[in-house]
Amino acid sequence: MRVVQFTDTHLVPQVGGKFLGVDTFSTLRRAVDKARSLSPLPDAFFVTGDIAEDGDAATYRRFGEIFLDPSAAVFAVPGNHDEKIVMEEVFRGTNIQTADHAVFGDCLCLFLDSHVHKKAHGFLSEKILKRAEQLLKIHSGKPVIVCLHHPPFSPCPAPGCQLRNEKELMQILQNTSSPVTILSGHLHREVDETQDHVRLLTAPSTFAHCEHPVEGQDVNLNDFWESHQMDMTRQGFRVLDLSKDGKLQTEIHWI
Ligand SMILES: [Fe+2]
Ligand SMILES: [Fe+2]
Repeated sequence: MRVVQFTDTHLVPQVGGKFLGVDTFSTLRRAVDKARSLSPLPDAFFVTGDIAEDGDAATYRRFGEIFLDPSAAVFAVPGNHDEKIVMEEVFRGTNIQTADHAVFGDCLCLFLDSHVHKKAHGFLSEKILKRAEQLLKIHSGKPVIVCLHHPPFSPCPAPGCQLRNEKELMQILQNTSSPVTILSGHLHREVDETQDHVRLLTAPSTFAHCEHPVEGQDVNLNDFWESHQMDMTRQGFRVLDLSKDGKLQTEIHWI
């Protein structure tokens, strides 16, 4: 099974509109065209949040235009810039799915909402964590893919780059015997780290790449623009190939 992860598309509602000088619709279009020219073709697109810069319906409709071709399934989770209710309403009845889980290929895929209203950091509610635990029990033995916008182990010390209750999630995931792959966004950079049998992958954004501060660096971590540098010339996505026994191969493609 081949999955392509797109993240942090930061689309705007106006045709030809730009966000921080980037026509994010065009860069996403380029990324999707490149993914659709791969061999083998993707079976699914997983979109890990910050689809819209401002969470308005027109933006989600524009996003939907790019994924009209139903040849691959599309699953989406909200990021801190999204409006979950608006997003779900626009995607209802389209081929873009916003359910909390799916069994895809032989994998249990969990789609977790880590959005906190008007905050950059992430948090998973007790209800979401309980439901994830329940689904893992029901589908025990299957390889697991978890999609959520905020990465549970962030290499960036800034508070806005954290999932606040990552320990609760990791505890649930570490209790499973199956291999677990987490796909996150938010960082606008690629990460590949493993803790026990849990592998965390993040993908570059289709909008802009980000250089994060390191622990101990003399910057104000609460000021995003003082502590982070954005590179508007670098965009990409992640390709994952999963075999039936849960083995995974992955690489980043730059556009
Ligand atoms: Fe983002
Ligand atoms: Fe984000």
